[in-house]
Amino acid sequence: MQDKVIVVVGATGGIGSALTTQLAAQGARLALVARNPDRLASLMTQLHPATQQAIPIPTDITDPKQVEALMQKVAAQFGRIDVLVNAAGAGILKPYNKLEPADLDYMLDLNLKGSFYTCQAAANIMKEAKSGHICNVVGILGKHPMAMASAYCASKFGLVGLSKCMADELKRFGLKFTLFYFGGVDSPFWDSITLKVDRNKMLRPETAANAIVYALSLEPQAIPMEINIQPESHLFF
Ligand SMILES: NC(=O)c1ccc[n+]([C@@H]2O[C@H](COP(=O)([O-])OP(=O)(O)OC[C@H]3O[C@@H](n4cnc5c(N)ncnc54)[C@H](OP(=O)(O)O)[C@@H]3O)[C@@H](O)[C@H]2O)c1
Repeated sequence: MQDKVIVVVGATGGIGSALTTQLAAQGARLALVARNPDRLASLMTQLHPATQQAIPIPTDITDPKQVEALMQKVAAQFGRIDVLVNAAGAGILKPYNKLEPADLDYMLDLNLKGSFYTCQAAANIMKEAKSGHICNVVGILGKHPMAMASAYCASKFGLVGLSKCMADELKRFGLKFTLFYFGGVDSPFWDSITLKVDRNKMLRPETAANAIVYALSLEPQAIPMEINIQPESHLFF
């Protein structure tokens, strides 16, 4: 990871903060992104003392103008963007007939459109350099349907579609995409979800972070297109 310029979107989340901790300890140069500036500041204080460079950039990824400014700021500060990790998102899990229009807007604006804006703005910069790696933390509900997850699945299936189309379009410019299909990860994601789940049986955020670091560690010609890790207690085949 030494000297890689990595933008972690959702850096203060369960998966994002576990990942940030590992990347910082391994010498990456980091742009840490989420909305809440206090949580970003707190994350900064917890990073490894040997951390080279990390800058917090509070951004709401549902606003394409803020996302464009974010990527320009990273490119100006570090000279390039090697990796974008999209680990921001949220979940609404409830019966289809309880879904409000605002629920659908929230899922699509954040999980689908927000991720598209970050992919688009980062890819424009990576394309010039003819190199870049975009890691989208989709989740298994971007591959498998589940009752109560209509709006969430719609956003995540959409994210898979846009990622694969962009990967095909951008492969000749040296860009690669990896999609991560994690099952339940015990993180603050679940704090606001009322569905009965056993968080003790979920994956740890560190397991998800390890998988992302692994994908980033392969030799340049190897493209880890998909990584799928499920908790034993809740397997989707
Ligand atoms: N937890 C799971 O079981 C699981 C499983 C598979 C996939 N996933 C996916 O993995 C991703 C990360 O999940 P997690 O478990 O780490 O969730 P989390 O702990 O709830 O973290 C979510 C992160 O996203 C940021 N965020 C939310 N809205 C944002 C916005 N509009 N603009 C910028 N940042 C925003 C949050 O910070 P602020 O609130 O400060 O903005 C936070 O840093 C999500 O896409 C989720 O769908 C999760």
